[in-house]
Amino acid sequence: MPSTPPSPRLIDLLRGRDPVLVLTGAGVSRESGIATFRDAGGLWEGVDPAEVATPEAFQRDPARVWRFYDARRAQAADAEPNAAHRAIAAIEATGRPFLLATQNVDGLHERAGQRGMVRLHGTLWKVRCTTCGLVTEDRRVPLVPLPPLCACGGLLRPEVVWFGEVLPMDAFGRAERAAREARLCLVVGTSSLVEPAAGIPRTALEAGAHVVEINPERTPLSPFASECLTGPAGEILPELLLRAGIPMETAA
Ligand code: OAD
Repeated sequence: MPSTPPSPRLIDLLRGRDPVLVLTGAGVSRESGIATFRDAGGLWEGVDPAEVATPEAFQRDPARVWRFYDARRAQAADAEPNAAHRAIAAIEATGRPFLLATQNVDGLHERAGQRGMVRLHGTLWKVRCTTCGLVTEDRRVPLVPLPPLCACGGLLRPEVVWFGEVLPMDAFGRAERAAREARLCLVVGTSSLVEPAAGIPRTALEAGAHVVEINPERTPLSPFASECLTGPAGEILPELLLRAGIPMETAA
């Protein structure tokens, strides 16, 4: 249960037909057993992002970078979508104008039946050839050989966004447009520390949306959010849907 009850305005907005934008981060997959980046025991506690998540690291040691991503693929393949992923898909299934913008690369939103979504940081489940540029789906776990090679002989890289790289412009543009149009913006399981994704709720706030943060911890967004619901997304979101009369099982 949220420590502060949701506001009547939030429940009204959930019941209505106004456009909704949801922004998610690693915390939404926490209850599926996937480690976040910056919490205790998180991915960046034992690993320097500069060693595994930059173009320079890949140039230096592609096998090391691939071992990191191969382990993340194995973990994501073993995980199941949780109640938070399903609740977000159920909001979309009400048929209102809706967009999910996720920073996650694990594919769990898709497996929960999400349709209208943009991936701001790419996906673990595609690879791109650094020579010919071909992007292909690749679901092999584990990947052999490491680093994997394209049919053209070029080195394959994960189709994810690394530090120092620009976000896919079409995905970010759609998220920014949705932020300007949304009446309700749910910000779920992100530390709101990584730009430019962290700027999306600010755009929504400036455009007059009701911005709700769902997170067990406070973040730099918390003082500005219209309301903060403190706790795990897998508990808070289903409770919100129950109060708004949105059935969880409408999601595919
Ligand atoms: P972080 O690890 O920075 O933040 C995860 C957030 O989830 C924290 O604020 C936690 O308090 C919260 N959290 C933990 N458990 C939760 C739960 N059960 N329910 C809801 N929230 C929970 O992850 P992101 O914000 O996603 O980028 O990080 C953003 C980007 O930084 C990532 O996409 C990645 C990373 O470096 C790249 O790799 C480019």
